[in-house]
Amino acid sequence: MNSFDTLLSFIESELGFATSHYDSSYLDRRISSRMRRTGIETYDRYRQRLETDADERTALLDALSVNVTSFFRNPDVWAEVRRVLRSLTESGRHVKLWSAACSDGREPYSLALLAFADSEIDETKIRITATDIDREVLAKARHGVYRSTRTTDIAEQLEPLDGYERFVQRDDTEFRVPDRVKRLVEFERHDLIHGRSKSDFDFVSCRNLFIYINAEHKLPMLQTITDSLRTGGYLVIGKTETLPDVLKEGYDSIDKRLRIYKKTIEVE
Ligand SMILES: C[S@@+](CC[C@H](N)C(=O)[O-])C[C@H]1O[C@@H](n2cnc3c(N)ncnc32)[C@H](O)[C@@H]1O
Repeated sequence: MNSFDTLLSFIESELGFATSHYDSSYLDRRISSRMRRTGIETYDRYRQRLETDADERTALLDALSVNVTSFFRNPDVWAEVRRVLRSLTESGRHVKLWSAACSDGREPYSLALLAFADSEIDETKIRITATDIDREVLAKARHGVYRSTRTTDIAEQLEPLDGYERFVQRDDTEFRVPDRVKRLVEFERHDLIHGRSKSDFDFVSCRNLFIYINAEHKLPMLQTITDSLRTGGYLVIGKTETLPDVLKEGYDSIDKRLRIYKKTIEVE
């Protein structure tokens, strides 16, 4: 085993971060950036540092976590999602949505806010399940309070929602999702690799996770999601992500560029 692989297996077994699921060039970029910050030049030396320095272990885990998210991330995708939600609620039946890998909740809350704001979407018919593997981001999500900082402009993120102030309570830099919106969303911990499939979802959004995951683990994740969708249900993945060929035949592409698909058949 070379020294980079030895370091990765140390991180997996001793720090509990599943490096084997992630793309190795992504891991290398993150680890190398910590090494530069600490002035360490070799993977072996850096592993020795991790063995003795609890602060560096925490800093590395922070650097490896990829919880980046926003409200209405990629607004062009959300314009199409709005159309999909309108058509799903049109029939008057209940509609089940799943925001998989939801990070701190801004994605599922965007779905809920859209349902409240758009008069053609009946929010009383919508239930949203939102899941993530990371307990800390789920705690933030349940809290539903977000702050603008020097680098994050929450007001700007909410702009695709006309008159967002009607649905989000604002106090200077703090934005609070009110209880009536929160009630549409149920958060739970779920691991897309080892967790069970769900069933009968009308819509699943799983965006901006596969870019970090290696090919071997991407397929089981997307299989879990596919099995959770009913035939005729919709799938949205990240704009720079792709469906593996074996799964593509089970979907029609609704919008190629925006990566929105409709499940057509069950593929074994
Ligand atoms: C970059 S965020 C994407 C958030 C949101 N979907 C978006 O597009 O803004 C990726 C999320 O995937 C979660 N994640 C990583 N591995 C996972 C797994 N095996 N199962 C479920 N969630 C996972 C991370 O905790 C993180 O919150």
